[in-house]
Amino acid sequence: MNPNLESDYLGLRLAHPVVASAGPWTRDREGFRRLADAGVSAIVMHSLFEEEIVQAGRLTDHYLEYGADSFGESLSYLPELEDYGTGPERYLRLLADAKSAVSIPVIGSLNGTTAGGWRRFARRIEEAGADALELNLYHVPTDPSTSGAELEERYLDAVRTVADSVSIPLAVKLSPFLTAPAHMAGRLAEAGAAGLVLFNRFYQPDIDLDALSVVPKLVLSRSEELRLPLRWTAILSGRVGADLAISSGVHAADDVLKGVLAGASVTMITSELLRSGPGCIAPMLDGVRHWMSEREYESVAQMRGSLSHRHNESPEAFERANYLATLHSWRPEPDLGHLP
Ligand SMILES: Cc1cc2nc3c(=O)[nH]c(=O)nc-3n(C[C@H](O)[C@H](O)[C@H](O)COP(=O)(O)O)c2cc1C
Repeated sequence: MNPNLESDYLGLRLAHPVVASAGPWTRDREGFRRLADAGVSAIVMHSLFEEEIVQAGRLTDHYLEYGADSFGESLSYLPELEDYGTGPERYLRLLADAKSAVSIPVIGSLNGTTAGGWRRFARRIEEAGADALELNLYHVPTDPSTSGAELEERYLDAVRTVADSVSIPLAVKLSPFLTAPAHMAGRLAEAGAAGLVLFNRFYQPDIDLDALSVVPKLVLSRSEELRLPLRWTAILSGRVGADLAISSGVHAADDVLKGVLAGASVTMITSELLRSGPGCIAPMLDGVRHWMSEREYESVAQMRGSLSHRHNESPEAFERANYLATLHSWRPEPDLGHLP
């Protein structure tokens, strides 16, 4: 019997729980098409960044001012703004184009930290045809005078602003570095998040010793990184009024299965798509089907959350007790000799 892989996420009925997360594959129409042909069940488009929106706003202001000063008829320039080639305009055009190129759901993405100019762009992303919107709250809190509580209020404000502006469902991509992620997850759901994406992967800069400078360094993820979102998915599953999506460390069928067992509605992939190309999707789905058939699971819905904190026979496996057990589980490599 072929197991039913259908998965509901943000009110969308998806063919299975493997979604392409935001990344470089969606930079053009062809990338969307290749992802869809490879069999992902939905695509999250790369982000439109708050900085792009702010910059485009400045350019537009400048343009209008220049027009007004020179010709006193700035309004006559407005149609040309459409072709101005700014980041946001390009983004919206590509989104609309991608929607006509693929038949699977496309989720737009906004990336920033404040409510800022997002309201307008959230609406325009909806108008361009996005089936849902992901809000990536990527912030590095370097200011010692800003408290966690203040930051959380800022995030909630951004989520409320965007949720009130659109009628498509909203997902929020979260940082794992929160003092009380479970509490914040509940508040985000109350603020209008229909889905939570666990987690944002923070890229740490490195120091170049030759150039004596700080340099950006992007390292693709590995399956081991799945365990952080896996744990929090299991803890939050069935406890917050939002669907859960795992992002970080999904590379193979086993990762997808673990994510669903922990309670994820979908698992998302970027690094594996960059490392192996879209051809990685088919074997991943075959592996999921094979494992489910062997264990006689009829559907992903039946599996979902069965090893979550709530349903696990040993919920302490996700708690502090797990820390002690983990430390005690370490054994020296046989050829490294005995412990000091
Ligand atoms: C090259 C690259 C570009 C990315 N661009 C975005 C982006 O525009 N917006 C976003 O929210 N996440 C972006 N991400 C993060 C991914 O969506 C994903 O959350 C992260 O890579 C963890 O998933 P993975 O382990 O499957 O790579 C990007 C990741 C990579 C590697």
